[in-house]
Amino acid sequence: MDGNGDGIGDFEGLTQCLDYISGLGITCIWLQPFYPTPNQDDGYDVMDFYSVDPRLGTLGDFVEFIRYARERGLRVIIDLVVNHTSIQHPWFQAARTDKHSKYRDFYVWADEKPADAEEGMIFPGVQKSTWTYDEQAEAYYFHRFYEYQPDLNITNPAVREEIYKIMGFWLELGVSGFRIDAAPFLVELKGIKDTGDIKDPYLYLKEIRNLLSWRRGDAILLAEANVSMEDVSNYFGDGDKMHMLFHFVANQGIMLALARSQANPIVEALKAAPGIPEIGQWAHFIRNHDELSLDKLTAAQRDEIAAQFAPDKEKMWVYDRGIRRRLPPLLNNDERRIKLTYSLMLTLPGTPVLRYGEEIGMGDDLSLKERNSTRTPMQWSSEKNGGFSTAAPEKLVRPVITTGEYGYKQLNVVAQRRDPMSLLNWMERAIRTRKDCPEFGWGKWQLIETENKSVFAHRCEWNKSVVVAIHNLADEACTVKLDLGESDAEYLIDLLSDRQYQPIVGSSYTVELQGYGYRWLRVGGGLGIRKK
Ligand code: NOJ
Repeated sequence: MDGNGDGIGDFEGLTQCLDYISGLGITCIWLQPFYPTPNQDDGYDVMDFYSVDPRLGTLGDFVEFIRYARERGLRVIIDLVVNHTSIQHPWFQAARTDKHSKYRDFYVWADEKPADAEEGMIFPGVQKSTWTYDEQAEAYYFHRFYEYQPDLNITNPAVREEIYKIMGFWLELGVSGFRIDAAPFLVELKGIKDTGDIKDPYLYLKEIRNLLSWRRGDAILLAEANVSMEDVSNYFGDGDKMHMLFHFVANQGIMLALARSQANPIVEALKAAPGIPEIGQWAHFIRNHDELSLDKLTAAQRDEIAAQFAPDKEKMWVYDRGIRRRLPPLLNNDERRIKLTYSLMLTLPGTPVLRYGEEIGMGDDLSLKERNSTRTPMQWSSEKNGGFSTAAPEKLVRPVITTGEYGYKQLNVVAQRRDPMSLLNWMERAIRTRKDCPEFGWGKWQLIETENKSVFAHRCEWNKSVVVAIHNLADEACTVKLDLGESDAEYLIDLLSDRQYQPIVGSSYTVELQGYGYRWLRVGGGLGIRKK
């Protein structure tokens, strides 16, 4: 939301939206980078870690925002983008102009272009290399991401000191933790000539965890680590590194399950994950601000998904691995499937993460380049610019979606608030119900076998309390028998479902489901609210 009418969303506007966000039932806001930036990668190219980009407000506005959020019981976590800086960061400017500057060693240099310079690009097809020659520095610098994002040298104690200071600074200003951007690359030592006495780079994650916990005991670290399941323990440690990781493998499993109308890919993805420390949590998401990466699947599985969800590969596919669309267009705006997908996200063991606009089913704009297609302004109302800004439309950083079924005139918050059947009202209800069911988040999960390949059924138990969720990934209605193994469960209470169903009585637990139907059930009766 743009608070001052210049066409750019800002802290003033965001602060005005806090009642909406808390009304939805959100408990924590993840703020993407808001630091001063040349904005070549939507703020993931930081020029100053200790400030707010003037286009978005001031530090004063930030603190006001934090205060308003706190008053509404909302926590705030922020992006910690310290794998790299912007090329325009004063550290890089000093490093490139003076070989003897103390900032030279903040970055990763080579006199000759390394032989593997054309390997390991994060944005293949767009990014040409991971090493670029800098005329001023008379050397090559390493960059995992775009060439305007030089990697920091994490083995340099002075860099580590700076990262602690950055974390400490924002913790003092009231944030409840960080999303660690590009965590696997932050700890990698690639390209660094002298790695000193660092034997295990993952120990750095423990160091930042220690700092965080000393400074603020209830703060968390949520890592963006799209890694294989064998690598996961490097990030969670023994409960002494990251608190949370995004579950990229489950995300990709959900997509395959949706494409095949079969439950198995979800089961396999969940089972592939190792046991994690009790204090650890998975973060489940459907879409984020990046491409829908399918990198953890096989080439054949990727093709299977692309054939359905990105039929026009030229337009919809990016970086050889993912889809640059939001969810509703993938599912032909079929509301049954959209709700089914979010119902899955909300019931998988872990913490659900929702991105702005998902709650109203926003679409994408494929005319925008790369990942910008899914980064269009929030559609608040049918007013000019979707109520996002009072500026002239051409002043907006990115155009609002105006045409078609996803256009702001019909698809917006105000319209959906009025409509009791809207996705927004469904989402609010689903989030409220999810909060009544801590078992889904914290419990031990178990698969419930059914004989139907399209049905994913699981039970979660926490503090002797049990909930069950059943999802039908196929278009055809079905009836399944659940073997709950609960001798004392007199009946199952429907908590949330795609429609009114007959109550389940008796001990055979025969459960009906419509096509793309879902049911959340509490075992054992009562009010359906967890008993102490
Ligand atoms: C991961 C972020 O999600 C992405 O948007 C960004 O481009 C890279 N990290 C680089 O910071």
